[in-house]
Amino acid sequence: MTAPASPASPAPHAVRLTGWGRYAPAQVLTNADLERMVDTSDEWIVSRTGIRERRVAAATETTASMASVAALRAIHTAGLVPEDIDLIILATLTPDYWMPSTAALVKEAIGNTRAPAFDVAAACSGFVYAYATASAYIAAGMARNALVIGAELLTRFLDYSDRSTCILFGDGAGAVVLSASDEPGTPVGIEMTTEPQGAYMIWLPAGGSKSPPSAETVARGEHRIRMEGKETYRFATRTLASTALAAVGKAGWTQDDVDLIIPHQANIRIIEAVAKGLDISMDRIYVNLDRYGNTSAASVPIALAEAVNEGRLAIGDKLVFVAFGAGFTSGAVAMEWTADPARGRTADAAVRAEDVTIRKPVDWDSVDPIPPALADVLARPLPGHMDLSDVVPGEPEHAHPSTR
Ligand code: ACO
Repeated sequence: MTAPASPASPAPHAVRLTGWGRYAPAQVLTNADLERMVDTSDEWIVSRTGIRERRVAAATETTASMASVAALRAIHTAGLVPEDIDLIILATLTPDYWMPSTAALVKEAIGNTRAPAFDVAAACSGFVYAYATASAYIAAGMARNALVIGAELLTRFLDYSDRSTCILFGDGAGAVVLSASDEPGTPVGIEMTTEPQGAYMIWLPAGGSKSPPSAETVARGEHRIRMEGKETYRFATRTLASTALAAVGKAGWTQDDVDLIIPHQANIRIIEAVAKGLDISMDRIYVNLDRYGNTSAASVPIALAEAVNEGRLAIGDKLVFVAFGAGFTSGAVAMEWTADPARGRTADAAVRAEDVTIRKPVDWDSVDPIPPALADVLARPLPGHMDLSDVVPGEPEHAHPSTR
């Protein structure tokens, strides 16, 4: 008796990056602001990290709202409408809620009815993990247009008395659309690592099942991010280079072939060490951490969108993006750029932040989410905006109404 013939497995679909977008809140938290909160200086922060300022979300914003703006911009760049999306994966370590997933909130906010939506948790490597997951879905024929988002609202989870962490992080979101393509595939290399021995080097102790939130956990400040900076630094410099190289090798390239590296934007010294380790000059590495700080899972997709829109990538260029983070995790993607870089430049104007709403339950509202240390910063006028608070709205008064 002969075994029944196994059904022919469908040829894997080629995966292309077709859309990109990003959103950063308007308010800026400068090093000078931090000098007023903790014993630090602009000189120390710039020389030890490269960070000059970071963005801070307004009280009306959440991870889901920022993610939705970036997502709609990426969908616009791809030339699609939200209903074309059939998979939504969102990477974050600062979700709006423990449940539902932030991806589910984004799905509703962007007006999509079709896509399964879920979050992934891999800290700062989260966007790369989500990208790898979406790629696999498309390659397997389980999705045609996937939305991959990295979004973080870290400024609400920081200890503003700890100068070694509160200076590092900022808020924002970035997104890409991956699409199945009938064109021949281009080389892709994906590498991901997880080293649990580093689990407590960056962590947020309370709020989970090991230590549920209580007055005591809050009194201990265990609802805020803690980090062993030196250990994390060592892991980052070692792993960013080896993970990027592994992805490059899987794509069949050497590091000399790579046109642009977009690393996780954590610290300029880490990035410079990686450049040295890979023997790659800094002009082949994209850096924007001076303006955003470390936005964790949002850092790579924000940097990717800005790099493309600034003309740093052309069709046919070989690109690597690479991240590391809590876990310890790392991840890298080596890919050839195939989209028209001009497509993304109209996305910011096409999708305005004020057009996005995240629905809330009718009988519930949150307490003021703004940490007291940031209240003054968030109360001041937005940079680049004229302060019109002393202008009386309505018709100007007539100088001599009685003589009319
Ligand atoms: N201002 C002034 N002095 C400071 C500050 C500050 N903001 N922070 C620390 N210092 C002091 C320290 O107290 C120490 O003083 P001491 O010598 O009197 O004890 C001195 O500066 C040196 O401290 P180090 O910790 O040795 O400083 P280092 O050069 O290692 O820089 C930093 C610290 C920036 C945190 C660095 O270790 C780093 O970037 N680590 C990696 C962090 C990172 O990337 N985390 C993100 C992980 S991604 C994720 O998943 C969330």
